Amino acid sequence: MKLKDFRLDFEAMLSEVVYGHGFLHYGYFPDGPPATPSLQALGAAQQAWFDRMVAEIPSQVTTILDVGSGTGANALALTARGYQLECLSPSTQLNAMARAKLPESVRVHDTGFEGFDVPRQFDMCLFGESFHYIELAPALAAIDRYATHSALIFDYFRRPGVERGVDSGGGRRQTHAEFCAALDQNPGWQIAHDEDVTEAIQPTFVILDHVKNAHVAPFLTRLRGEFRRSRPVLGRILEWGLGRRMDKIVRPSERSERFAERYEYRLIRLARRGPG
Ligand SMILES: C[S@@+](CC[C@H](N)C(=O)[O-])C[C@H]1O[C@@H](n2cnc3c(N)ncnc32)[C@H](O)[C@@H]1O
Repeated sequence: MKLKDFRLDFEAMLSEVVYGHGFLHYGYFPDGPPATPSLQALGAAQQAWFDRMVAEIPSQVTTILDVGSGTGANALALTARGYQLECLSPSTQLNAMARAKLPESVRVHDTGFEGFDVPRQFDMCLFGESFHYIELAPALAAIDRYATHSALIFDYFRRPGVERGVDSGGGRRQTHAEFCAALDQNPGWQIAHDEDVTEAIQPTFVILDHVKNAHVAPFLTRLRGEFRRSRPVLGRILEWGLGRRMDKIVRPSERSERFAERYEYRLIRLARRGPG
């Protein structure tokens, strides 16, 4: 298992336990950062992300293919709103969590979008923070094959000049310009909505930085010191094996500044062009 996959599984477990909903996307803060940077505020902002996404679904849409369905939290909430869902994700771990919470009528496929192969179509393909995992050309080809009406992408794009692959598993994160250029080659589709929401997403990292720098790191530093004092031999062995990793964990993080420098977060709705 890749470290990035493990991180997603870990975040999924935290999301279920801490927030109770299992969303794996960032928070959406249209009114700016919360007065108190807490995980509770982040959980509420993940719900706001979902609400903003739903508001963008065209009224004609009934059937949705949830591409990169995570723990099934979006699918469950969409099902409750009357949509018919089908889900896919290459993570068998996340899919097991999704199957446990979704009604049996919602199929969950253990596959990436590139390898998805069913003889059905859907009104809309949904990419909730999953588009950046998928190569651009196969993703657009699969949208054309599966979506009869729309595609909704709520995800981040690499800024021009930022090296491909920084922080990423497969280095597949495309720039917005690359996305638009590739879409131009697909005459069947047009951009119906394209909104830069980076500023509304960024407080996610203000909160995560705060939780780490003000709470987790000082706690770990105290724990480490106490361990070295009370168990000197074991403490030295642990420092030898894990010291550098722990130094890295307790180093102050600045994700809130780095995120907006490297990425732009966008809500994009694609619409299939009518004949002629
Ligand atoms: C950050 S999570 C988002 C989960 C969910 N959409 C949400 O909003 O909470 C990204 C999801 O994309 C999935 N994924 C990764 N590579 C993929 C691929 N090639 N095709 C489809 N989904 C993929 C992951 O397994 C995970 O379910």
